[in-house]
Amino acid sequence: MSKPTVNHDLCIGCGTCESLCPEVFKMEEGKSHAIKEDCADCTCCQEAADSCPVNAISIE
Ligand code: F3S
Repeated sequence: MSKPTVNHDLCIGCGTCESLCPEVFKMEEGKSHAIKEDCADCTCCQEAADSCPVNAISIE
């Protein structure tokens, strides 16, 4: 299982993760939220994590 999480202390709300991977990340009140518990079957999740300018996304 690959669980995506967004560190809200780090997220600056740039929205890149939602643009790259809207099935997993959703912007709400200026921060990104992981709306999927498991992104093992998703190809864009890791790309979104790698593209976050402040490295706020982790996948465990
Ligand atoms: Fe936030 Fe990074 Fe997404 S700053 S909005 S978690 S790309």
